[in-house]
Amino acid sequence: MSKSSLIALVTGANKGIGFEIARQLGKQGITVLIGARDERRGMEAELRLAGEGVDARFVHLDVTDQQSVEDAAVAIRGQFGRLDILVNNAGILVDEKPPSDYDIRSMVAVYETNVFGVFRTTKAMVPLLLASEQGRIVNMSSSLGSLTLNSDPNFELASFLMIGYNSSKAAVNALTVFYANDLRESAIKVNAADPGYCATALNAFTGMRTPEEGARTAVRLATLPADGPTGGFFSDAGSLPW
Ligand SMILES: NC(=O)c1ccc[n+]([C@@H]2O[C@H](COP(=O)([O-])OP(=O)(O)OC[C@H]3O[C@@H](n4cnc5c(N)ncnc54)[C@H](OP(=O)(O)O)[C@@H]3O)[C@@H](O)[C@H]2O)c1
Repeated sequence: MSKSSLIALVTGANKGIGFEIARQLGKQGITVLIGARDERRGMEAELRLAGEGVDARFVHLDVTDQQSVEDAAVAIRGQFGRLDILVNNAGILVDEKPPSDYDIRSMVAVYETNVFGVFRTTKAMVPLLLASEQGRIVNMSSSLGSLTLNSDPNFELASFLMIGYNSSKAAVNALTVFYANDLRESAIKVNAADPGYCATALNAFTGMRTPEEGARTAVRLATLPADGPTGGFFSDAGSLPW
């Protein structure tokens, strides 16, 4: 299937790395569905990308809202009959602190978006991805979620003791492995992407990389060929340990 006939859904695509993933997929001729929880922000993103010649279409989607995710799946089925690429990009940080100081309500809020949101959206979209000849799922993770890296006291980010966010990304990695195993007999490939530390609203624009750079690994994984990997965790530099 040529790229110009592919359909991609990116959650949290109205800004940051998600917007850049949508832009880079769209520049390849792929139709991008701009998943956004806020209609105005989603429409603005659609218009910006349309102005660059991208076939971008806003889809209302709040990953914490079961009805909105189910409605999005029904709308995509009605319009396209399938989905070729799902990028689970929407993610949040909530009042991050080391474990001893962290509030359970913040933990629940982070998991509601970063973990249950990924599961909810994936579960709703897998039937549509199975209708594709080449379904691809990319989960936006982080090296902060790597248990192997965090077990090394010399890990460069070991001081980022953000228990809610970091453990949510470890859970995203677990979802990646289990979904990859579950779908191994299908054409669907499921991988996790680490964008690196990028300047976005998530970190008050303190990151060293641009969102454009951060989007690249996810875009590569979203457009893997049939002999590409599944059940892996990747950054620009290659494979990452779980
Ligand atoms: N920036 C980094 O250095 C970095 C590093 C590693 C991993 N990541 C991951 O990369 C992904 C994108 O992050 P970012 O840095 O681009 O952050 P960002 O600029 O804050 O963008 C986050 C996006 O997620 C959306 N979102 C949040 N909650 C949502 C919900 N319930 N339903 C739908 N959309 C929701 C936001 O929408 P609103 O505009 O409506 O808030 C926004 O579009 C996240 O998963 C993040 O954990 C980022």
